[in-house]
Amino acid sequence: MAVTLLFGLVTFFYFLVLIPVYLWSTADSLWGGEDYVTSKKAVPVIAEILTRRGLDSSLLLDLGSCRGKFAVQLARKLPKLRIVGIENAHFRVLFSKLRAPFLGSRVNFVYGDLYATDVSKADVVHAYLPQEYFESLGKKLRAEMKPGALVLSYRVFFPDWEPVEVVQIPGEPPVEKVFVYQVASPI
Ligand SMILES: C[S@@+](CC[C@H](N)C(=O)[O-])C[C@H]1O[C@@H](n2cnc3c(N)ncnc32)[C@H](O)[C@@H]1O
Repeated sequence: MAVTLLFGLVTFFYFLVLIPVYLWSTADSLWGGEDYVTSKKAVPVIAEILTRRGLDSSLLLDLGSCRGKFAVQLARKLPKLRIVGIENAHFRVLFSKLRAPFLGSRVNFVYGDLYATDVSKADVVHAYLPQEYFESLGKKLRAEMKPGALVLSYRVFFPDWEPVEVVQIPGEPPVEKVFVYQVASPI
């Protein structure tokens, strides 16, 4: 009797939980956007940039936060930083939310389109997205972010913006760079 019950529970769990979750995550990876993350070695570099600029307790938006790895790693380096990750693939948002509880309310992940995101309150935006996003994204950030706010991009860059700083990740190939931009005051 107990064995039959156990077998039933395992079968139930397998078919109604594990397989759907597996299929969902696979579909999400296949049809979600680019599935790569900011290198772990870039995280202390970004933490240092933010600390040096007095932004270690500011509000950072990670536009296209994937499964939240970068946001969580940065939050561990900068315990006062508030981070919101925005991602348009459902499973990735769910996965990120499962990652975050130990970091409390200062790290949050939301489902949404980065182009529809309100960036006006952000002190910092981080973007690691396909290069073709950067022209349109640049226009949005320039129009909506507050003057003086910082924009960081990793490996990819804004074609028509002048960075205030470019930091090479130590010991890594030349492409491994963090570009730092500052939103200008309207003329
Ligand atoms: C290359 S990953 C970067 C992950 C993370 N920001 C990092 O630095 O490690 C880019 C993520 O952006 C998401 N993405 C692409 N277009 C998006 C959009 N319009 N709105 C929200 N997320 C988007 C993709 O699904 C993908 O998970």
